[in-house]
Amino acid sequence: MLREVLSWCFLFCLGLCVQAPLVVSVKPAPNAALTSVWGPGLEANVVLPARFFFIQVVDNEGRNFTASPGENTFEVKIVAPGEPFSRIWIQVLDRRDGSFLVRYRMYASYSSLHVEVLLKGAHVAKSPYILKGPVYHDNCDCPEASAEAWLKNMHCPPSFPQIQRDLSYFPSVDPDRNARDIPRRFGQRQSLCHYTIKDNQVYIKTHGEHVGFRIFMDAFLLSLTRKVKVPDIEFFVNLGDWPLEKKRTPDVLHPIFSWCGSNDTRDIVMPTYDLTESVLETMGRVSLDMMSVQANTGPPWEEKNGTAFWRGRDSRKERLELVKLGRAHTHLIDAAFTNFFFFEHNENLYGPLVKHVSFFDFFKFKYQINVDGTVAAYRLPYLLAGDSVVLKQDSPYYEHFYRDLRPWEHYIPFKSDLSDLLDQIQWAKEHDQEAKKIAMAGQQFARTHLMGDSIFCYYFKLFQEYAKLQVSEAKIREEMELVEQPKDDLFPCFCHRKKVKDEL
Ligand SMILES: *[C@@H]1O[C@H](CO)[C@@H](O)[C@H](O)[C@H]1NC(C)=O
Ligand SMILES: *[C@@H]1O[C@H](CO)[C@@H](O)[C@H](O)[C@H]1NC(C)=O
Ligand SMILES: *[C@@H]1O[C@H](CO)[C@@H](O)[C@H](O)[C@H]1NC(C)=O
Repeated sequence: MLREVLSWCFLFCLGLCVQAPLVVSVKPAPNAALTSVWGPGLEANVVLPARFFFIQVVDNEGRNFTASPGENTFEVKIVAPGEPFSRIWIQVLDRRDGSFLVRYRMYASYSSLHVEVLLKGAHVAKSPYILKGPVYHDNCDCPEASAEAWLKNMHCPPSFPQIQRDLSYFPSVDPDRNARDIPRRFGQRQSLCHYTIKDNQVYIKTHGEHVGFRIFMDAFLLSLTRKVKVPDIEFFVNLGDWPLEKKRTPDVLHPIFSWCGSNDTRDIVMPTYDLTESVLETMGRVSLDMMSVQANTGPPWEEKNGTAFWRGRDSRKERLELVKLGRAHTHLIDAAFTNFFFFEHNENLYGPLVKHVSFFDFFKFKYQINVDGTVAAYRLPYLLAGDSVVLKQDSPYYEHFYRDLRPWEHYIPFKSDLSDLLDQIQWAKEHDQEAKKIAMAGQQFARTHLMGDSIFCYYFKLFQEYAKLQVSEAKIREEMELVEQPKDDLFPCFCHRKKVKDEL
């Protein structure tokens, strides 16, 4: 409680000091015509759980704003002509760098939409943006039959290097052999889901006891098959933390889809369940997602606390080392456990447990330490999206996008045994502008490559490339059950792509 009062007071006082000089200087004014507005949320055919677009504020001289012109500078209205109510929830998120992220979630489908971006009542840029429909909401089951058309609509990149690399170990994929061998090799001890997608319907058979996490995969596959016709495929998803395929000789390799890859395994990586679910549940069940984080990046760089920060649980030995290091160097690192589960809690060594800190509060600190948990720490996408600089541990574990990240460009690397972590923090402190540049590049990477559209593209490309390797048909195996599309949508849509013969 005292801590909260103190930090509130700290922020409040700081706010006063910073705001005072602004009153005397002449503020540049946002210019409605010069301001730019762009993004996938202005296109009818980019169907996403939460659609989004951007506003870059430009002043009368044509210069970009680099700080917030005020949270409520813009008003965004989305109307469906001819509809008395539009069931659309809109949020205008201030990224406080002179740009805004507008996101909206639709609860019904419309024949067209008008997106109006207004500055003091005047239209901004080319507003109103007219989305000629049909404009479908996420729940509308209306798959685009042509993969080509969908990929083009979504502006998907032609390829993902990680997919090329993962599949390069599999010159071909034999669904019959996999259906026979994979449950035998992994089905007993592991949590596996055997999926078949056939005629764009999803079928599943689970292996192992702990298969609760299938809900993330089920939900994603249903969402994807509502949007696009997925090729017929048969594949196994590993619901556990660790990648499974440890063999190295190509003739016995089995393709397993996992949320985390490692240098010592041949699993095929997918975006993590955490990132996947946050895409599906943006403006829904989750509060931390790649968009919300952009509106909560804490104070500006210059005002961030210069202590390196970490919170988490004791899921790996290096995390114990990190907390010990922090206790020995309190002026450099604030690292503490919020939970003890894996190791015995020794308070003398690791200090008392501390209260859970809201993720958004991490960004009060300039340096964010990313250290492995059980496997890769799935917080990295969110850390990158903030405007702090990430210090990332070298690790054998990786997520689907790590291959595209470059040390010293998007993050500051440190050794897996933490032996150079203090040096790297010291370097960042002594090279503030370089560190800030790395922070901004990491953020730009996250803003460009880790949003919902990219996640949909990644999965689809993966399935498409994988399908090409199959030497025989995907089959609906014995004991597989259909994963049904939800039927409880309040506002059913009419899909223009479906034949009317179903409608009796
Ligand atoms: C202004 O912002 C836009 C959008 O982020 C960017 O593309 C452009 O390069 C910026 N212009 C300048 C001069 O920085
Ligand atoms: C920065 O954070 C550290 C560790 O949490 C704290 O001890 C220190 O007082 C903070 N510095 C300022 C200026 O608030
Ligand atoms: C894992 O592989 C990557 C890419 O080859 C490499 O940069 C990294 O150092 C390796 N890390 C470990 C701990 O094996």
